[in-house]
Amino acid sequence: MQEKINDLLRRVEEFAPKAAAEIEEFRIKMMGKKGEITALMEEFKSVAPELKREYGQRINALKQTTLAKINALKEEAAAKVEEEVKIEDMSRPGSAEQLGSRHPISIVKNEICEIFSRLGYTIADGPEIEDDRHVFSSLNFPPEHPARDMQDTFFIEKISNEPNVNDILLRTHTSSIQVRTMEHQKPPIRVICPGRVFRNEAISYRAHCIFHQIEGLYIDRNVSFADLKQSLLYFAKELFGEKTQIRMRPSYFPFTEPSAEVDVSCNLCGGKGCPVCKGTGWLEILGCGMVDPNVLTANGIDPNEYSGFAFGMGVERIAMLKFGVKDLRLYFENDVRFLHQFDSVL
Ligand code: DAH
Repeated sequence: MQEKINDLLRRVEEFAPKAAAEIEEFRIKMMGKKGEITALMEEFKSVAPELKREYGQRINALKQTTLAKINALKEEAAAKVEEEVKIEDMSRPGSAEQLGSRHPISIVKNEICEIFSRLGYTIADGPEIEDDRHVFSSLNFPPEHPARDMQDTFFIEKISNEPNVNDILLRTHTSSIQVRTMEHQKPPIRVICPGRVFRNEAISYRAHCIFHQIEGLYIDRNVSFADLKQSLLYFAKELFGEKTQIRMRPSYFPFTEPSAEVDVSCNLCGGKGCPVCKGTGWLEILGCGMVDPNVLTANGIDPNEYSGFAFGMGVERIAMLKFGVKDLRLYFENDVRFLHQFDSVL
């Protein structure tokens, strides 16, 4: 019996199939109902009782070795099949890579910049961490103006004991880039300034502490309010469609005089009145005005020689109107289910 066990062990160890089908054949030959190892169990019944324990253990070890070998060979064969399929089946469709898409805020920002570049504007940039002078003082904000209040502005550092002077803060609007442009450039100036701005606001469906603005500035000889109005009408028609109309309402900004807020006719209901325009037929999109002479003087430009206009708008708001997005927080959550809805808009 010992000889038989040794012989079977040797054959198991030496077994090297040439094809995967031989593995199952071998298993049946050894361990099937009529298999050689199965037959050994029959023989085992007649082994002398004092030897049963020893032979029992040996036969068990033989069985386990055989099973382990067969399983290992089967796994190997399966892996090989997979590998062969990978290499050989050139006609299998490829697995698609997930592509990213442009963020709706970038889409709208690029479109606005493009419209103004057709009017001869160039793009200007500025830092997000600013000082009081560029964000407030040079823009004719009186020292006690509420926008400087802690509730609106994120202050970073207070450098001087004098009120407001040299405070370091996160810019609350992109109008600071106006100031930086006037510092480095003599008129004629025609710039568009996109950027991120920061305000200490409670986050809700219509407000966020981080958002995007686009500022425009045009300074030259004889720039008039009519130029401002015509430029904005062109812009509104390009952005919302040929039928779009604008209206201007008197407003107040420290850096412009006179100032206005601009509404466009509601692109959803065509001006008839709907829930988006709250029944008015108009949607507010931007603030604008003629640059205040104090701002020109503060930035080294003679108001007797030059005049100009400026305007500023929130990109989130315009993207909401353009795409019908009802909750501004969606822009910041980066949920791909939201972002993929803009795949086809470029
Ligand atoms: N800076 C203003 C804001 O943050 C927007 C604005 C209004 C900019 C009128 C302008 C302007 O240049 O003329 O609300």
